[in-house]
Amino acid sequence: MILDRLGLQIGASNPNVTARLLKSGPFKARQYADCDTLGPWDSSLRIAIIGCGEIGRAYGALLQEQTSAEVTWVVDADPDRAQAGARAMGSSSWSTDAAAALRHPDVDAVIVASPHATHPQFACQALDLGLHVLLEAPLALRFPDAQRVLASARASSTVLAVNFWARDALEIRRIRGRIPRPTFVRIEAVVDSLGDSWMASAEHGGLLGLLGSHALDLASYLMQSAPLYVQALGGRHTRRSDLADTVSAGIRFRNGGLARLTIGEYGHSSTTTAWHILVTDGMITETANGDLMNGQPNVGSVLQRGAPDSGSQGGSQLASLNAFLKAVAAGDPPLAGVEDGARATQLADAVYEAMGGRRRIAIPELSLQVGAGPVYIDDSVPNRPNHGLGA
Ligand SMILES: NC(=O)c1ccc[n+]([C@@H]2O[C@H](COP(=O)([O-])OP(=O)(O)OC[C@H]3O[C@@H](n4cnc5c(N)ncnc54)[C@H](O)[C@@H]3O)[C@@H](O)[C@H]2O)c1
Repeated sequence: MILDRLGLQIGASNPNVTARLLKSGPFKARQYADCDTLGPWDSSLRIAIIGCGEIGRAYGALLQEQTSAEVTWVVDADPDRAQAGARAMGSSSWSTDAAAALRHPDVDAVIVASPHATHPQFACQALDLGLHVLLEAPLALRFPDAQRVLASARASSTVLAVNFWARDALEIRRIRGRIPRPTFVRIEAVVDSLGDSWMASAEHGGLLGLLGSHALDLASYLMQSAPLYVQALGGRHTRRSDLADTVSAGIRFRNGGLARLTIGEYGHSSTTTAWHILVTDGMITETANGDLMNGQPNVGSVLQRGAPDSGSQGGSQLASLNAFLKAVAAGDPPLAGVEDGARATQLADAVYEAMGGRRRIAIPELSLQVGAGPVYIDDSVPNRPNHGLGA
């Protein structure tokens, strides 16, 4: 029955997909059945991909293999990567200049999969040109930049989606369905030392820019409430980084709920993250343990995520991509929107501020309004490249 459904809905626009699903067996088929439909939403979208690294290529493969949307531009700071990416994705055009590529009339939407510090700039450029945007997390590293993206998004009638993929993880959907009003959420998200990857650098937000943005969004998403204040401790324990590599934060939410997050670079794998999640409303308690990204064993879960056949992490792009295409075509909500991205950035800023100032940081309800002040104690903080936590 699942395959019937898939055959009807996907095969109609891309018969190769149905054939591949039939070949790939029940787990792969369930993977798609768990996502929403692909076919009708994407017939005419012309997409530019900015950043042709691991994730940009995963998006390109998903678009090529599973949709009829067209990748018209591939942009990368490295011309060889841009050119090779364009060839692989069947795109006629490539560039090292994102701003120039986005101005071409054969672009309707852009996927931003470049390093973190570039995200707000590319998002604003695209929104200001009236393009739809699917952005890898984080939305921005600093709240003032997030507010600029928010302003551009509100001035534009286009969609901005953030790939907070963890929202769609099977275990998260199960827990959220079981416990709609938690009183306590505990999230531990751990990755191996980020070493000398660009993701580790203060310029690109370090641990909180990478893993922290997802964990902070997940706390709000599971709590289904807005944050009220933040307390946090952190330090540089696993490497001599410019930013904290281990963070413990507490968030009080407006519904009275409390979240406790531990985010650290003390895992045992550089390619996957380990999550330990507990959610309770006092009556029911649910837990999830494992690698949410690739669907590794959670008790009772057999669903395998990950892009079919490619061996890449495409599974953590698929749900956001589906929701994004539907949002553009039919006005449905994306998996996560601009407010969600801005809130995660606001929380990350508050965590740094709480660590640096050793005090509780209030999160004003209206602070997502464009023009409302950031949470910093003094005006110099937004200009500090390392959040004021330099070595
Ligand atoms: N969803 C997931 O599962 C997942 C996993 C890892 C990373 N990510 C996110 O995806 C994004 C990209 O990560 P990645 O692992 O693909 O990194 P990567 O290093 O493999 O690729 C980044 C690419 O961007 C290019 N680039 C750098 N500066 C640029 C610029 N100014 N303009 C255009 N291109 C530029 C680089 O040359 C490189 O090809 C990040 O936001 C990261 O956090 C998502």
